[in-house]
Amino acid sequence: DIELRITALLGQMTLDEKVGQLNQYSGREVTGPASDRKNTLLSSIRAGQVGSMLNVKGVKDTREIQAVALESRLHIPLLFSLDVIHGYQTTFPIPLAEAASWDLDAIRLGAHVAAKEAAASGIHWTFAPMVDVGRDPRWGRVMEGAGEDPYLGSQIARARVLGFQGEQLGGTDAVMACAKHFAAYGAATAGRDYNAVDISEQQLWETYLPPFRAAANAGVATFMNSFNTLNGIPATGNAYLQRDILKGQWQYPGFVVSDWGSIGEMANWGYAIDKTDAARKAITAGSDMDMESDAYHKSLAQLVQAGQVNISLVDDAVRRILRKKFELGLFDDPYRFSDAKREQQVLADPQNRAAARQMAQKSLVLLKNESATLPLAKTLRRIAVIGPLAKAKRDLNGSWAVNTDTTRITSLYDGLRQRAGKTTELLYAKGCALSGDSHVGFEQAVATAKSADFIVLTVGEAWDMSGEAKSRTDIHLPGMQEKLFKALKATGKPVAVVVFGGRPLIFDTIAEQADAILYAWWPGSEGGTALADVLYGDYNPAGKLPITFPRSVGQIPMAYNQQYNTGRPITKPGETRYKSAYIDSPNTPRYAFGYGLSYTTFTYSGLKISRAAMKAGESVEVSFTLTNTGKFAGEEVAQLYLHDPVASIARPLKELKDFRKISLKPGESKTVTFTIDQDKLAFYNSKLEWAAEPGKFNLLVGSASDDIRLEGALELL
Ligand code: IFM
Repeated sequence: DIELRITALLGQMTLDEKVGQLNQYSGREVTGPASDRKNTLLSSIRAGQVGSMLNVKGVKDTREIQAVALESRLHIPLLFSLDVIHGYQTTFPIPLAEAASWDLDAIRLGAHVAAKEAAASGIHWTFAPMVDVGRDPRWGRVMEGAGEDPYLGSQIARARVLGFQGEQLGGTDAVMACAKHFAAYGAATAGRDYNAVDISEQQLWETYLPPFRAAANAGVATFMNSFNTLNGIPATGNAYLQRDILKGQWQYPGFVVSDWGSIGEMANWGYAIDKTDAARKAITAGSDMDMESDAYHKSLAQLVQAGQVNISLVDDAVRRILRKKFELGLFDDPYRFSDAKREQQVLADPQNRAAARQMAQKSLVLLKNESATLPLAKTLRRIAVIGPLAKAKRDLNGSWAVNTDTTRITSLYDGLRQRAGKTTELLYAKGCALSGDSHVGFEQAVATAKSADFIVLTVGEAWDMSGEAKSRTDIHLPGMQEKLFKALKATGKPVAVVVFGGRPLIFDTIAEQADAILYAWWPGSEGGTALADVLYGDYNPAGKLPITFPRSVGQIPMAYNQQYNTGRPITKPGETRYKSAYIDSPNTPRYAFGYGLSYTTFTYSGLKISRAAMKAGESVEVSFTLTNTGKFAGEEVAQLYLHDPVASIARPLKELKDFRKISLKPGESKTVTFTIDQDKLAFYNSKLEWAAEPGKFNLLVGSASDDIRLEGALELL
């Protein structure tokens, strides 16, 4: 029994050895050339002063370092961890892109492939999924989450945890997952990374905590706390979050790792006098493992000896960490994730790339398609592929590509080249740089466009323009890219624009004048192939936006479920006077949450609600017919929203409560059914009780949050 083995081991450990288990260092240097840092790290590991390493990867290196850990007095193995965020060697689309698939099985498979590759390379633990609800596109880390909605985010959190870990921890094709960043990191003020968070308790519970709860319910092995404060208290030192909610109310059995240096940073916040004080506050608040701040290593033993930290807190943290090492089977075989033959086989498995290609296809969002510009006609003879990202490889992987071979990434140009027939000539011009204000390249691009019969223009962000520490105040397409579009549009040739990026970008002229727009996010190693599949119609796009695309930075924040009727709603289009409106912009976004087109069309009809009223404890079926009325087979994500028009707290106009992804052949119809129970009607009231209030509820079924096709009502008695 694991608990007995942990108790026995704890009984043999000195205080220093216990603190050692709570200590994690980055090991970029530990396998590199000789250096002071390398020597210090190795002797700390040998002395049992380190519980885990991050950034050591590969069978050779992890074996070598594990062997050093096993020289320690009690031979306790290390945990090797890494940010395997959207793939290890095979890079999948960024998490925000995957979320656009609304395809939970595919998302789970993506996490599983990433885990399989990482686990074959000596990794035990990934710092993913990031389950922070992200509603501010200025924040560079929106790329790493599942978007703005707590319901969709919770479903995806669960899928990712199960994908990384499998049903039960310990498989050698799985790694421990980590729900991060606990909590509310996505609400960083003004979208600036590492900033303070000031939100109501209600917002915390209703918007930011649900995906964490879903991850915990799915059995996520670890949590990571966060750099931000929550209403004044750093998340890392926040006992309310970690002790009361996570380990108390939720009875969470896993362990919590700090974010990089975040224990030490509590002194910078002005919440701790120095690192020693920070260590005391962090352990007291429930942070079990110290990533890289060295505060536990330097101070925890003395704090215990001085009676300032109760040894039971240290024991509890050590127990939680040892439990995971036992569950992973590391005490039985410390090298079970470090098998050179398996590493070679798994990394060479072509199925991994096939899965990445499918995921990339599913993540693409068709934003515009005037007069059926796409798919590309097979009869096109000369296609001009233009733009600074047309031949890009590294950029397609986006941020957090941890072990990728950039030469094996398929660019959009290469993808089209492989797919286009021999009779189609592909022309290329870069057009302009990704940033800066130079027109150099315009002339050649226009000349190239003029000699073609179709233009595919690629624009967007470079891979390092979104991600950690990549917040931006201006989220327009950078540089001269919109101007390049205008110059190309002036040729009169049809233009399909492919946009790459790690966040919602603003592109006014393209939105208004392009013939077709495909939002590609950062689609990963197989991005170019998947884009060619979609551009040529071999795959019919079905992605839907998991995050709102604003018209301007001035509208932010503008998540769909932050929209209320207000006391002064606009009742006629264009009305602004003394209304909750802007005098210089519509209230509506450029592209709404849940929006995305297909090469086919779908109709929604025949809404049936199984009964008009329900009592507490009962449920109601909402069903309707979905029909593919176009010429292509395709998939539609049908979405169910709810509005509680009168409640003890003013409720948003729409809240996503369920969705189904349905595949239909041309002319085919299917019945779609959603079940509404009391839980779907509930919200956190002013006492923070999760309760449904009797009264009327509006039910809205549609193709996007701003494209509601069927409406009905329901009463809770
Ligand atoms: O996992 C990350 C975290 O999300 C941000 N700071 C660094 C950690 C480890 O790389």
